[in-house]
Formats: sequence, structure tokens, C-alpha cells
Amino acid sequence: QRPLRRLLSCPGTVAADLRREEQSSGSAETGSEDRTPKKRFSEVQNERREQAQRTVLIHCPDKINEKKFLKFLSQHGPINSHFFYESFGLYAAVEFCQKESVTSLQNITRTPSLGPEAAIPFKSRYLNLKLRNSLNQTSELSSIQCSNQSSPSSKKLYQLLCCAESVDDQLNTLLREFQLTEENTRLRYLTCSLIEDVAAAYFPDCAVRPFGSSVNSFGKLGCDLDMFLDLDEIGKFTAQKTSGNFLMEFQVKNVPSERVATQKILSVIGECLDQFGPGCVGVQRILNARCPLVRFSHQASGFQCDLTTNNRIALKSSELLYMYGALDSRVRALVFSVRCWARAHSLTSSIPGAWITNFSLTMMVIFFLQRRSPPILPTLDYLKTLAGAEDKCIIEGHNCTFVGDLNRIKPSRNTETLELLLKEFFEYFGNFAFNKNSINIRQGREQNKPESSPLHIQNPFETSLNVSKNVSQSQLQKFVDLARESAWILHQEGKDRPSPSSNQPWGLAALLLPSVANNMSLSKKKKKPASERIKNLLDSIKSSGAENSTATNGR
Ligand code: CTP
Ligand code: MG
Repeated sequence: QRPLRRLLSCPGTVAADLRREEQSSGSAETGSEDRTPKKRFSEVQNERREQAQRTVLIHCPDKINEKKFLKFLSQHGPINSHFFYESFGLYAAVEFCQKESVTSLQNITRTPSLGPEAAIPFKSRYLNLKLRNSLNQTSELSSIQCSNQSSPSSKKLYQLLCCAESVDDQLNTLLREFQLTEENTRLRYLTCSLIEDVAAAYFPDCAVRPFGSSVNSFGKLGCDLDMFLDLDEIGKFTAQKTSGNFLMEFQVKNVPSERVATQKILSVIGECLDQFGPGCVGVQRILNARCPLVRFSHQASGFQCDLTTNNRIALKSSELLYMYGALDSRVRALVFSVRCWARAHSLTSSIPGAWITNFSLTMMVIFFLQRRSPPILPTLDYLKTLAGAEDKCIIEGHNCTFVGDLNRIKPSRNTETLELLLKEFFEYFGNFAFNKNSINIRQGREQNKPESSPLHIQNPFETSLNVSKNVSQSQLQKFVDLARESAWILHQEGKDRPSPSSNQPWGLAALLLPSVANNMSLSKKKKKPASERIKNLLDSIKSSGAENSTATNGR
């Protein structure tokens, strides 16, 4: 079995290779050592960004001759890769080998000039192909293979899970089905690159960078696309010059606070996307939020986008999660399962509110894996001690330094199975003393809660912030109740598992059913009420040595 980690040495094809690899091996490695060099997050980001700049997005007619289409485009230079997908029509993302080819194609592109489509003098890389007839001779039409951009239906997922060989196999199957594909990842970088073209009309040297689950390796197909407008590059050209007679006049800086400057910039970019952004619809400017943002959907790619500015710390935390995800293949499998479990039970939602977020859940899994014996993941403080001079990073006064070279981190010696880890995760958080303790991945141990929010998870870099400040007591309680019930189900099942051929949901499939409680009451009729059974189970767990109190109070 070839270790998954080795594949990270080739991030250009990471997602695709991971998929293939998992399909062929059927199971994930557990803590075996691998010494092949792996790329840094920043290298991956730079390569993807550069690749996106050589790519165009083309809205195609429904019927198209692929060969002729490619031949036609390659008049502008060799094509490195391409794929088709569907999103309110047929689209193609075509990556040229050289950037010049994009310019050459843009030079022959017409801007619409008729009817209501008044042209804006802006050459985007999002093109519309209108065929006269040379490319679509129907006799030669072959069916186009479309890359799938969405996650499997629950029905298909249950089928896949039910015919898996083991709970470990189920977790790896879920990861394989939900993780971002190579094409989806490309499309995310391409979308940012297209938005950057629009923003660059105002700020020529800006960059629009993806962050969050699109890049931290924990993104599920269909997750939102978080991006931020990076204006730091512009500052760099002038910041070093501290002498000289001329000072640039900065209108936008002439405001009471950085926050107001951010709001002004986002307001302008939001307006611009709304009026002229190709394929950007439903633009909302949410400027009074703690972190002001512009939300819109990018119709051609189908992504819901959140654009912020000045978000370097969030990019750093995406890098940290990426590191954790790459250190041990069990991490991503466990995070995906916990995220899907939470979604299936409406613990998380796409609407902002008092619920737990995927980011918080990921931090909880990381913390739990730091608490195993031996630990599966190192603490952030330890990653800081491994940092070299090139890793030093202070952002807005916060020390965000940690090692960026994955090869300097020793693999864990822990060989626990995913099945055990999932069960223990639910048990651990079903019994966590949320009322007094805070989750802290920097130190890898509980801390006293500095404030009274029901759930306290310290932001790894802005340590005075609570990542889960929004979570209400009742939502936390719902999480705890479901975690206990899920621990109970896995515990019971370990004793008496339905055979995979029986068509009964088992293992992870049983946990993902819409209501765990209903499921239990259906299958175990006439038993004591669920709450009583769970209480008994918890008592037995406690008496077998669990130390933490079961209190989650504060109510
Ligand atoms: N973030 C943060 N503190 C928060 C919320 C978010 O630092 N309280 C940062 C994290 O780096 C997070 C990113 O903002 O990854 C994007 O937030 P969000 O979209 O809520 O989370 P994702 O990790 O992208 O997960 P999802 O798939 O649910 O979008
Ligand atoms: Mg997100």
C-alpha cells in the first residue's frame, strides 16, 4: 500500500491522486513513516494561482465537437488541460501552457454590441462561444464527458456506506465522495482569478486569494468559496521607502479607522461586481459585520462567494489546517465524517446563526487528536518550535509563526483505527466540561474559560478571540446530546453489527440518518426511553474511569 502522504509532493494533482490512491488501496495508512518531500502551502497556492491565470472559462453551446473546439483554441497556443462541467449550461475551463495564449484569444474576442447588452470596455477571461457552424457539425458530435461538481445524494451515500467493508472503510468512502475534486479545486482558483481581474481595474496590483475550506483540505463539494482581496502587495512597492520628499496621497486612509477603510474598499468592489462583474449575481454588501464582506454568487462556476479584505490571519489558519490535514490521513477522514454528521442532524447550517460552524468542528477534531495517547497531531506551540527563519510571521501584532515545511514533522506512532477514533470523539465531547474549559489547539490541552460563552474555542492566532462565540447554550446542548447518542450507537453496534448484506444502515450510515433518536426508537422498540439508556451507558463509561464531569451546564 502506497502511503497517501507521499502524494502531497505533487500538489498539482493532489486531489485527483488522493482519490485514485484511496480507491486503489481501499484503506488509509495509520501513522507509518514516509520521507518523501512535501510541498509547502505557499508553493501550492502560488502554483494554483499561476495555473488559474493561464486558464479561460468558456460558456459553450449545449452541443459541441470537443476535438474541433480544442483545435480551434490551440491556434492561440498549446493547451495544457481542460475539462467540461454543467452549471446552468455547458462550460469548459481551458488551461493554456502559456499566459500569452490567453491574451491572443482575448484579442480576437468580440464584445457584444447589440440590443440591451451595452459593452463595458473590460476584457474578461470568461467567454461566451457562439457558433456559426464550423464547430458543431452534428454528424461529428461526440458526447462530452462532464466533470461532476456536486456531492452524492444521501441515497447514493447510504448505499455506498452500507456496502463498505468496515467502519474505517465507510469513513474513507465518505471522504472520497465529498472531498473537492481536482477540477473543482481548479475552478475555485479560477473564480478567484476572474474576480481579481475585476478588482484589478481599481487596484492594479491586488490579488484575490482563496482561503477557508476551499484550500485547507477540509472542503466538501458544494462548500462556499471564501476569498480575500489582498492589497498588501501594493504596499510592498512603496513601504520600504522611508525617505524622500514625496508622500502618496491616500484618500481612503484618510478615515478614522482601518475598519472604515476596509468598508469603503469593499463597498466599491461590491458595486463594481454588481454592475460589471461577469457572471456575478445577487451581490450583497454586508459591511457592518465583524468582518465586513461582499457576498455574491458566481453563476458560471456555481459557487457562493464571500469576499473580504485584509484577511491574512484567516489565510494563515487555513495553512495551519492544511498542515494538520496533510500530517496523517486519518485527520481528514475524521473531520469529513464529523462535518457530515453535524450537517445531517442540522447542527450546522448554511445560514449564519447560533449554531456550531464547520471551522469550530474542525478545531474540535484537531484538539481531540492532540489529546490521544500517543498524540496523532502535534500542538501549535510545538509546530512553532520547529519553525525556521523563513517561517517567521507576525500579522497585525499577532505571532502566527509555525513550521511551513511538513517534512520537519515526525509522523505519529499512534495506530488507532478510524472506527475507534470516531467513537472516542463522540464520547470525549459527550463528556467534555464545556462549562469550565476552553478548547485550545495551541497548547493541546483544556484551559479555563476566559469568558462565559457556552462554547469556547480559542482562535489559534488571535488568542483573545473565541472562534465559537456565536454558539448558544441550546445548540451546544444539542451537539452534546447527539454526540452521546452517537457514541452509544457505535458502542452497541460494536457488539452486534448487522451484516453488510442485510441492507440495514450500520456504522457511519446509522449515525447519518436524519434523526439518531428516531432511528434508535424504531429499531429498539419497547426498550427504556433513549435518555435513560444513554444515562446508563454514560454511567458505565464514567465508572470505568472517565474523569471529566458530564456537566455541560451554564444553563
Ligand atoms: N474563520 C475564523 N474565525 C471564525 C470563523 C472563520 O478565523 N470564527 C476563518 C477560518 O480560517 C475559516 C475561514 O475563516 O476557515 C472561512 O470561514 P467559514 O467559511 O465559516 O469556514 P470554512 O472553514 O471555510 O468551512 P465551510 O466549508 O463551512 O465554509
Ligand atoms: Mg467557507
